[in-house]
Amino acid sequence: MTNNMFFIANWKMFGDIKSVNSIKKVINFSKNKKYKKAQIIYCPPYTLISKLLRLVKNSKIKIGAQNCHYSQTPGPFTGSINTDLIKSCGAKYVIIGHSENRALGDTNNIINLKIKSALKKKLKVIFCIGETLKEKRKKKTNLILSSQIKYGLKNIKKNNNIIFAYEPVWSIGTGIIPKINNLEKQVSDIKKMINKVWKLKKPRIIYGGSVNSNNITELKKISSIKGFLVGGASQNSKNFIDIIKKTIN
Ligand code: PGA
Repeated sequence: MTNNMFFIANWKMFGDIKSVNSIKKVINFSKNKKYKKAQIIYCPPYTLISKLLRLVKNSKIKIGAQNCHYSQTPGPFTGSINTDLIKSCGAKYVIIGHSENRALGDTNNIINLKIKSALKKKLKVIFCIGETLKEKRKKKTNLILSSQIKYGLKNIKKNNNIIFAYEPVWSIGTGIIPKINNLEKQVSDIKKMINKVWKLKKPRIIYGGSVNSNNITELKKISSIKGFLVGGASQNSKNFIDIIKKTIN
């Protein structure tokens, strides 16, 4: 697992029942031995999870959800999906703490409950952390990231089922990525923050925010980054394949 590179497609609220067939290209591509290090995970809207699971059945591609409710038990939460439901439909991963959901009210405490619930159900977690532009300008990045990590992981035993996704909020959907040197330093700081809480020898840290087939050649130079969480560019199979090809060559 340690050598794997993660390529996680976050479709957000995009894609419909017809568009899922476009991933057949990626399924074929994933069978190419040359790219066997690539661990591809699709996180479509909830409504497409079952359809995607059927499509990827005979491939190594995994499916995840984009969020979950924190309640471990069924309850009167209209419109919500908890980790039990995600698990029971066959998905293996769940994104938790995405800044678009933090902006809608997910606090570090709620995120902590969600992570606990996911781990209890044996789902793997893609735990997103990231600072806003305002926080970055005020030089609060490390303060914010360390509290997201500390409180997100509160009272959770050290384990290897979490992928840490560093996604600076100012980079998501903007076409702007951090300067490579700054990003490398940031990832090393994040490693230290995780180590303070868990003493993980090799935490898996991936990067997300405007990753595309052009900037990937720069981003892949950072060897401490073990993969990418890709939003916009993952909706087009060709672009997504290009990102994987250019990372692993
Ligand atoms: P983006 O989104 O690649 O479109 O910037 C990334 C994300 O939000 O996970």
